[in-house]
Amino acid sequence: MAIEKTFIMVKPDGVKRQVVGDIIDRFERRGFELKGAKLINVPRELAEEHYAEHKERPFFGELVEFITSGPVFAMVWEGENVIKLARIMMGATKPEESQPGTIRGDYAVTISENVIHGSDSPASAEREISLWFGEGLA
Ligand code: TYD
Ligand code: MG
Repeated sequence: MAIEKTFIMVKPDGVKRQVVGDIIDRFERRGFELKGAKLINVPRELAEEHYAEHKERPFFGELVEFITSGPVFAMVWEGENVIKLARIMMGATKPEESQPGTIRGDYAVTISENVIHGSDSPASAEREISLWFGEGLA
């Protein structure tokens, strides 16, 4: 298994609830390495580009509103199999399926305000790291 990088973002609800530190701690304890991080107010165009795959879904408008509603904490993490393992650490998208012990399973009860984003594949990771951090980190 090769060393990978993935894009992880604490969403506005997570920043407001001050769980950024806990999320960094979970990734550090797992053995992953932080390669980039920034707190930013997301421009609408960046939110729309980030979630372009969901453009036609009924929740797209609310999703963009939510992501632009306050600062997010964007990160790049590196390590063995980090793309898949980060998704497992995050927990499932649907709150009734996110297990206790996962980030969403510990902090989220709604599907829309679910604390964290993580790339879902190597192709997504490459696209999202370039989009948020430029080619230098990808
Ligand atoms: P998705 O990519 O399906 O989930 P994940 O974040 O686990 O990769 O959806 C992106 C985000 O869109 C999701 O985190 C929350 C929001 N969303 C809704 O608000 N309602 C929905 O029914 C779905 C599927 C997602
Ligand atoms: Mg997704």
